[in-house]
Amino acid sequence: MTFLKTSVAKKVAMAISGLFLVLFILLHLAINLTLIYPGKEAFDAAVEFMATNPFIQIMQPILALGFIFHIGMGIYLEWNNRSKRPVKYVNNNPGAASSLASRNMIWTGLFVFLFLIIHLLNYFVPFKTQDVPDHYALVTGLFKSPVYTLLYVMAFIALGMHLSHGFQSAFQSLGTPRQKCHKFLVCCGNVFAFLVAFGFSAIAIYFYFN
Ligand code: HEM
Repeated sequence: MTFLKTSVAKKVAMAISGLFLVLFILLHLAINLTLIYPGKEAFDAAVEFMATNPFIQIMQPILALGFIFHIGMGIYLEWNNRSKRPVKYVNNNPGAASSLASRNMIWTGLFVFLFLIIHLLNYFVPFKTQDVPDHYALVTGLFKSPVYTLLYVMAFIALGMHLSHGFQSAFQSLGTPRQKCHKFLVCCGNVFAFLVAFGFSAIAIYFYFN
C-alpha cells in the first residue's frame, strides 16, 4: 500500500492510464475513418457493434474511470510539481532542456478535457438518452458547424501535441531502457501523434466541405 503513495507508483499509474487512453483513441480513429471509407453502412455497423457488444459494455465504465483517473492524477502531479517549486526561476532558454509539448502537458490535456465535455454533450448524451435514428447523420451533421469543426481540429492538434511527448514518456515511466529505446519511442510517438491529429482533423474538414 505504501508503494502506491510513492512518486514512482504515481508515474507508473499515469503511464498505464495514458497508454490505455492511447488504445481507446486508436479504436476511435479506426471507427471514425469508416465515415469516409467504406462509408455510412460500415459506420452504422460499427456503432451497432459498440452499442451491443458485451465486452464493450464492460469496458465503457472502465474507460470513464481511466479518463477520470488520468485527468485527476495529471492535475495532482502538475500541482505537486508547481508547489515544490514555488519561486519561478529565471530561464532565458526554456526549450534547451525540454520540449514545448512536455512543458505544456497540463494545458494540452485540459484543452482536450474541455473538448471532451462538449463532445459528450453533442454526441454521447443524445446517443444514450434518445432514440437516434441515424448516427451517421448525427456525427457528420456536427461538422457542418464551423465553430464545432474549428474546436474539433484544435482539440486534436492539442491531443497530437500531448501524445508527441506522452507516448514516449509513458514507456520511459514503465522503465524501458533509455539508451536502447529512446530514439525509437520518440519516433513512434511522433508518428502516432501526427496520425491522430491529422486523421481526426481530416475527417472533420472533409465533412465540413462535403
Ligand atoms: C485521449 C486523451 C488522452 C491521452 C491519449 C493521454 C495520454 C497521455 C500519456 C500517454 C501520457 C504520458 C504518461 C507518462 O508520462 O507516463 C500523458 C501524460 C499526461 N497527461 Fe494525458 N492523455 C489524455 C488526456 C489528458 C487529459 C484530458 C488531461 C487533463 C488534465 C491530461 C493530462 C496529462 C498530464 C498533466 C500528463 C503529464 C503527467 C506527468 O507529469 O507525468 N491528459 N497523457
